[in-house]
Amino acid sequence: MSIERPAHRNADWWRDAVIYQIYPKSWNDSNGDGFGDANGVRARLRYLADLGVDAVWFSPFYKSPDHDGGYDVADYRDIDPRFGTLAEVEALIEEAHGFGLKVLVDLVPNHTSSEHRFFQAALATAPGSPEWARYHVAQGRGANQELPPNNWRCVFTGDAWSPILDADGVATGYWYLHLFDSTQPDVNWENPDIVEEFDTTVRFWLDRGVDGFRVDVAHGLAKVPGLPDSQGEQRLLDADGQLIDIVPEPMWDQPAVHDVYRHWRAITDAYQPTRIFVGEIWVGTPARLANYLRPDEMHTGFNFPFLRANFRASELRAVIDASLANDRVVGASTTWVVENHDVPRVVNRYALNDRGLNDAPEATGSGLEARIVRTPLSEQQERLGRDRARAMMLTMLALPGSAYIYQGQELALEEVINIPASERQDPAWFRSGGVDGLRDGCRVPLPWTRAGETFGFSTDSAWLTQPRHWRELSIEAQTDDPASMLELTRKALRLRRSEPALGEGEMVWRDDLTLGSSVLAFERPSRFGRPGILVVCNTGAEDAAIPRAGLMLASSRVPLERTASNALVIPPDTAVWLEV
Ligand code: NOJ
Repeated sequence: MSIERPAHRNADWWRDAVIYQIYPKSWNDSNGDGFGDANGVRARLRYLADLGVDAVWFSPFYKSPDHDGGYDVADYRDIDPRFGTLAEVEALIEEAHGFGLKVLVDLVPNHTSSEHRFFQAALATAPGSPEWARYHVAQGRGANQELPPNNWRCVFTGDAWSPILDADGVATGYWYLHLFDSTQPDVNWENPDIVEEFDTTVRFWLDRGVDGFRVDVAHGLAKVPGLPDSQGEQRLLDADGQLIDIVPEPMWDQPAVHDVYRHWRAITDAYQPTRIFVGEIWVGTPARLANYLRPDEMHTGFNFPFLRANFRASELRAVIDASLANDRVVGASTTWVVENHDVPRVVNRYALNDRGLNDAPEATGSGLEARIVRTPLSEQQERLGRDRARAMMLTMLALPGSAYIYQGQELALEEVINIPASERQDPAWFRSGGVDGLRDGCRVPLPWTRAGETFGFSTDSAWLTQPRHWRELSIEAQTDDPASMLELTRKALRLRRSEPALGEGEMVWRDDLTLGSSVLAFERPSRFGRPGILVVCNTGAEDAAIPRAGLMLASSRVPLERTASNALVIPPDTAVWLEV
């Protein structure tokens, strides 16, 4: 079954594509080893086609010791045997194309695994060798070089440096840099071997038909020469106290990263049809993000300010405006994303908004996430979180640009917060002694069926235990239930595909409806003779009344009985699409 791209859609598919993220270990296990695999995906491609997404992005499935969920790659051009073989992945790409699905793979260029042949070759030599020159190596500080070369911190807790030992296990006084786990040494992008390794890798996957790459830690590849101490990031304010810029630390968002993307873009531009990049770009401001999306760099970048925003109309509106305005300057299309494999599920995040968790000044990054994933939800909060997750799904899918759905988001799965220590795998969990590193809670394998020990994920076991009540959230349980999140998502994706007003294009805020600052109301104007669509998302505590119009879709029940003849009542935590 192949799905044709509707004629009213832009030929640049990626500008308004809906892309589904598969976390390979947790999607579908065909051989009973407890880990998802290529044949498991092949067996259920129809589910994705029926859901109505345009593309699939696979988190890494390459050969890896799996110290960081595959983001520690030992061979960029070979497959993790637990996931399958190269031939199976090639078949998967071809079969996905047969279903009309584009395929994006993950590229991890900031670091290799310590089991990569480059690092293994370096370990067999003394610091100063050409082999070590592929990584960042520096002499330690202190009388005996027993201290790390600078004050950089590892994202996963602790120092960003580990000592290099000689063949007898004695410290050499030299250290190697790892912004993530010590098994993920940062590579030196000034070294031609690194450039060549990734050129070969990019071509290898393009030649196998992939439609693009998600680029891991895209803002991290270049470091300030000399690796100076970090002074922290600097917030620059204008005379009125308005933020102008956030100047990054010396390991992030340095000008030289852009050379890498220009170079890769020249490679992919030689391929037809268009192959794309989407960057994982954590930078301080939307303007800095847009720098990565200039016409000769990446096509798109994840909109993390949107992902970070609370379920609060004023906050969301500010992010939407800033994202669209900055991306417009460089001619890029904007992305909308609220979940991925690194952040707590929205059900939990949005449920806890009311406790002001996000408002505490120290509540950012992993500190915030640790608090969210440690806070059990009451039944009522879980319901609230689900209502908001549904409302956000409709809102996000109606915004102009492309959107991402992380596996399980279409089921409104919640964060699993009580994972036993014995099952945890996040490297930050180990580095922080269990204080941080709680990302396993959003990576729990998908429930497919009501029955079975693993709800149809595997014939045998699952690498993380699924909560028992997930039987009622399974794909089987939600299929054909008109009240389910799955059917809501399907309907929204179907409409998005057929209605020219959705996807890329204009949006206009409908302030004339005077709904107040806790309601988002915007219109996607009519196109190609089809109606425009009014989108209203009520994030406030009171009902919002809007002029009655053709109701296309509602995230929760809109109580028509409470509705006057010329008005429609949108309850709190609800979004609707209306024909105008
Ligand atoms: C971002 C990935 O999304 C995350 O899962 C990983 O741990 C880090 N990059 C390091 O590769």
